[in-house]
Amino acid sequence: MKPETLNRLNLQVGPSGRAIAQPMETSLVDLIYEHLTMERNANAQYFAISLWFAEREFKGFSQFFKQESKAEQEHAYTFANYLIARGQTVVLDQLLAPKQEWNSIEEVISFSFQMEADVSSSLNQLYSIAERSSDNRTSVFLDPIIESQIASEDEFAHILGRVKFANNDPSALFILDNELLGNNA
Ligand SMILES: [Fe+2]
Repeated sequence: MKPETLNRLNLQVGPSGRAIAQPMETSLVDLIYEHLTMERNANAQYFAISLWFAEREFKGFSQFFKQESKAEQEHAYTFANYLIARGQTVVLDQLLAPKQEWNSIEEVISFSFQMEADVSSSLNQLYSIAERSSDNRTSVFLDPIIESQIASEDEFAHILGRVKFANNDPSALFILDNELLGNNA
């Protein structure tokens, strides 16, 4: 159905012309665009990290980051599809060049943990703006995403703890690598 037809029936339509039950605050939409970009950057960054490990024969770490990269792309889809469901158009920003140089595995995992923490802060900010604009649909949408983000933080903190404990000892790191290979095969 064309937008004009919808309008003749006095239905609200979003910027995309799709029928909507509740409009979205511009500040909330802008923040979702920013968050979507973060997820897409995380997708590219974890792809780069997966390759960094593959180049150094750490197949388990490489596989783990490959799965993480795919998960980030799924998150990006989730946010894009949510915007579409709410009658918004999806604006895609330019991505950052992923970082590819590291001095140690601990440095890579610390960086990844920080990325996860930044995603969590962005989700928290989204949640606050959704509450402030009484957009309960967005709050409900965010609930399971925040739950799985907390699980991700926990997973990265655990891996970081074990990498620190390995203290650059190759045999300890390869044991950890084998474990990750088993869990992410
Ligand atoms: Fe994510």
